[in-house]
Amino acid sequence: MKIILTGIQPSGALHLGNYFGMMQPALQMQEQGQALYFIANYHALTSITKADDLQRYTFDAAAGFLSCGLDPQRTILFRQSDRPEVHELAWLLSVVTPMGLLERATSYKDKIAQGAETNHGLFAYPVLMAADILLYNSDFVPVGKDQKQHLEIARDIAQKFNDRFGPVFKLPEAVIREATAVVPGVDGRKMSKSYGNTIPLFGEEKEIRKPVMSIKTDSTPIEEPKRIEGTVLGQLMQAVNPEKYEQFKVYGAAAGIGYGDLKKDLLAAIQERFKPYQEKFRHYQAHPEEVEAVLRDGAARARELAAPVLAAARKAAGL
Ligand code: ADP
Ligand code: TRP
Repeated sequence: MKIILTGIQPSGALHLGNYFGMMQPALQMQEQGQALYFIANYHALTSITKADDLQRYTFDAAAGFLSCGLDPQRTILFRQSDRPEVHELAWLLSVVTPMGLLERATSYKDKIAQGAETNHGLFAYPVLMAADILLYNSDFVPVGKDQKQHLEIARDIAQKFNDRFGPVFKLPEAVIREATAVVPGVDGRKMSKSYGNTIPLFGEEKEIRKPVMSIKTDSTPIEEPKRIEGTVLGQLMQAVNPEKYEQFKVYGAAAGIGYGDLKKDLLAAIQERFKPYQEKFRHYQAHPEEVEAVLRDGAARARELAAPVLAAARKAAGL
């Protein structure tokens, strides 16, 4: 059975962009092999500085995936920090990782260019990510385009280790999510928590209504036909309910309907689609012990996969 592994950074409240861009594709891949999905809380420490935030976002990511259809019987869901032996592997990989390889990492260079304080964690981020991947003998690693270089680095590191110590690691393959359209935020830019333009996946009714009603539109008067295709309203409706979108295009283009009404339609479509997930999420909020039990079980199952790989790497290195 092929191993499909990916890490999810717990970096904020989940939004519709995360759902369509990352969660839905990951959930669909559950059937294609043994999926291992983990909450990358060690990695998140490179950007989150408050312990309470990290705790909350970690819970939100785990409960979020469970609410949206992750099957914990089948898929192994765990917290990265529940398998701390990943750091031992990271060290073994570190000694075969050339400085130049990390210095070329664009995510690191970008952070520096933005004026971020440099620290070793940020620099070594790709090595820990390689360890995440190699520790579980991963075959496929579904990630967004921005992570492509990290996957190339992971393969390079695996190859370097194998060259020095013998064939321990399988070279993982990236599965790049190019196809998924970027979900626009309410202001028309990419939906992103850093722009404050998100529609939350698990918000209260009013927390969802407010951004939807604030979606940027043009000033076409009520009595004139409106353009729906390619607009924020249109793109969001297309993502949320593709069938409804077909009708939406037709009656939106008719004269006599206002943007306010179209936004209410989108709001209704969002509620209809995500209500069942939101209800499950509330359930997990009231019963965090259920999420905890899934994560612990996931960590135990992850250990079974990791133990022989780590043992082989240690032995090959002469430890
Ligand atoms: P944010 O931009 O809000 O900080 P992240 O960078 O944490 O979101 O995104 C986590 C994942 O969700 C990434 O894999 C990314 O591909 C996906 N994603 C985030 N925003 C969008 C979006 N607007 N459209 C499509 N996918 C998105
Ligand atoms: N760096 C990834 C991101 O920001 C998260 C991640 C950590 C990851 N370890 C991983 C993804 C291993 C895939 C495989 O999205």
